[in-house]
Amino acid sequence: MRGAPPAHIVDEVEALKREAGIAACSFINSGMTLGLGTGSTVRYTVLEIGRRIVEEGLEVKGVPTSEATRHLAEGLGIPLLTLEQAGEIDLTIDGADEFDPDFQLIKGGGGALTREKRVAAASRAMVVVADVRKQVPVLGGFDLPLEVDIGDWEGVRDELDLICPGSVRLRGGQTPYVTDNGGHILDCEFGPTISEPSQLEQLILSVDGVVEVGLFVGMCDAVVMATPSEVLTMVKQGGRLD
Ligand code: 5RP
Repeated sequence: MRGAPPAHIVDEVEALKREAGIAACSFINSGMTLGLGTGSTVRYTVLEIGRRIVEEGLEVKGVPTSEATRHLAEGLGIPLLTLEQAGEIDLTIDGADEFDPDFQLIKGGGGALTREKRVAAASRAMVVVADVRKQVPVLGGFDLPLEVDIGDWEGVRDELDLICPGSVRLRGGQTPYVTDNGGHILDCEFGPTISEPSQLEQLILSVDGVVEVGLFVGMCDAVVMATPSEVLTMVKQGGRLD
């Protein structure tokens, strides 16, 4: 069995997350409505936005992508809107579990993929914050999360068993994880085989009981990635931030 990584590795990864999360704030201007992502990397972005509101008078409004982010942002005094209230969002900053050379993403490791996708889809641009471990040549090494209707998860699992080359597991097992929307998550072990994420997304969405798929295609316009030596901002050619 693999043990926990040594403390100094954990600290180094945490430092990379922090650097990426803070560096992405260079995309933010006063007056913006921001989609606030979910996860341990974008948490640093949200903390920095809170700091800039208090110390620098930054004026922004946030649309949280999860209850966890809503609690965090509320505690920091970030003015919040629901997606319905916001309508259109200027910029969403969010984490990812993987990104490929075409800025296609796997998301949902934190279980918030459905709201994350709705917020991203309502945004004029999306920036992903990540450490170097998230960069992959082909998506799928990270198990692909799907949100499913709670009453249909077994049927969806059976259908996904026909589509997915590896195992399809209910997150939480005996104590299933419940999302902010009241759904379950299935984690699908595709392995690094997802070279046509858009096709796979459409195929999975056609299965009854699937609420959302953690494939984000054509949504991400830039990745701010921290490596041990530097923070790189990679902007998608022809994207909305190019
Ligand atoms: C939550 C997500 C997260 O953004 C993703 O899992 C990355 O999280 P972290 O920054 O903690 O690695 O998609 O649903």
